[in-house]
Amino acid sequence: MTNDTVKCLETLTQLARTHAPLRSLWEQGATRVSSMSYHIGKIYVDLSKQSIDGHAHKALLSWAESVDIESARHRLVGGECVNKSENRPALHMALRGDIGPQYAVQAAANVQKKMQNFCQGIRQKNKIRNIVHIGIGGSDLGVRLCAQAFALTARADFELRFASNVDASSITAALSGLKPEETLIIIASKSFGTQETLVNGSIAKRWLENALGVQAAQHIVAVCANQKAAVEFGILDENIFALWDWVGGRYSLWSAVGLCLMLCYGEDVFSQLLAGAHAMDKHFIDAPMAENLPIMLGLVGMWNCHFLDLPTQGIFTYNSALALFPSFLQQLEMESNGKSVTETGAPALLHTPIVWGGEGTNVQHSVFQYLHQGKTRTAIDFVVCAQNTHEDYPDQHKILLAHAVAQAEGLMKGQKFSSDGDKRVLSPHKVCQGNRPSSFIILDDSSPYAIGQLLALYEHKTFVMSVLCHINAFDQWGVEIGKGLAKTIYTELQSTAVHAENETHDASTQSIIEYLRAKWLTK
Ligand code: F6P
Repeated sequence: MTNDTVKCLETLTQLARTHAPLRSLWEQGATRVSSMSYHIGKIYVDLSKQSIDGHAHKALLSWAESVDIESARHRLVGGECVNKSENRPALHMALRGDIGPQYAVQAAANVQKKMQNFCQGIRQKNKIRNIVHIGIGGSDLGVRLCAQAFALTARADFELRFASNVDASSITAALSGLKPEETLIIIASKSFGTQETLVNGSIAKRWLENALGVQAAQHIVAVCANQKAAVEFGILDENIFALWDWVGGRYSLWSAVGLCLMLCYGEDVFSQLLAGAHAMDKHFIDAPMAENLPIMLGLVGMWNCHFLDLPTQGIFTYNSALALFPSFLQQLEMESNGKSVTETGAPALLHTPIVWGGEGTNVQHSVFQYLHQGKTRTAIDFVVCAQNTHEDYPDQHKILLAHAVAQAEGLMKGQKFSSDGDKRVLSPHKVCQGNRPSSFIILDDSSPYAIGQLLALYEHKTFVMSVLCHINAFDQWGVEIGKGLAKTIYTELQSTAVHAENETHDASTQSIIEYLRAKWLTK
């Protein structure tokens, strides 16, 4: 960490201690909005309800300069090994346009061509009616989000279902009522080694084989970076769509992981999704720092979490198309920035947020009580779509957006006096403190292009926060501990004895294992 950065952190810490209440920032009047709002393509973002005055704004930009965000961005785009612990580049931008090393751009284009040919072939044969996408984490969350969004505005040519959890409810619901001869199974797994996906994939493969025999092989494809494992699983070579080590799982929606979207909603919808993300890539690469939305969102994220001590980031989407956006972001941001050491292995000094959220207006009947009156304040992003996709119900769309706008205003202004004429001071349990910051994000519509822009915006925001914290956004070693322990415990849970001598767990874990075995063995 350079001396410049140390000085910036000290300045920001001091400013956070003495910063003006959010409400008082409105003495600047409307100029505040114009200086803190951004319009890129189909996205408008108003950051003016963030607790950032002129001094903080200047100091945050100085901080970004001191960590040389622009050089870090250049290394990302140029294909350098930004994922230092795995010695890999992170080239998700090459999946959606001519950004990155030529080898990656070309490889992505070749797979996209293969996807297009495959989809045309499926349509021409006209035998498939259903698609079951099997995957988890980054091999599930992005495509599931987009499928839910596209279903509201685009014609689906197939029924598209998803299975992710190893809980048998997931795969049984996905296959329930489908005819094997009319069904295509897509197994999406970059490693082709994720237990949940392989267990679900094996069940689906057996389901096909029991009905179709050798013909089953024509009804199952794989999307993976481990061709050998896929072939050993029984996937025909020609039915394997390549992924690469230079694309992280949580950044892989734009690859053949999105095959089910291209198949179900068509090539044009998928290319619009990519185009929106590509447009945001170009903005992130070209825009000067002070006009760069991913950089500003990353700075706001760190200002709220580390300096204003708002430990969580709430994401509230007021549109059914984006209902799964908080879940998508939980993996994107928390698997990327949930780290305690820097890229060099030194203790990380800065806190990054816990991400959560939900769908408005439902959340107003659950968590917003806490957000208005709870002791721990939360950083909040509101995401809405201006265009109404239900033209038969114009009023409901306006009611929905009125609530979103009102919540942001109420969180900032609070309420100390009665809202009727006599302005009585409210009793303490009715007071809302206010001064609770939020960003307000308006998509023109819930089109694939706008959603592509939104998802890429948060990918780049996540990267910016990782650079500010000197951490690696592209590895996820923390997920390995559970996988390793589960393998041993799974074997032990199959034991035919309640008590076993050679098991080496702590007393709590051991008693839980034995309680479960007793339940199963003595029913
Ligand atoms: O959670 C760990 C993780 O590796 C994620 O990063 C990834 O998206 C998910 O598991 C699925 O991995 P794969 O695509 O290799 O099955």
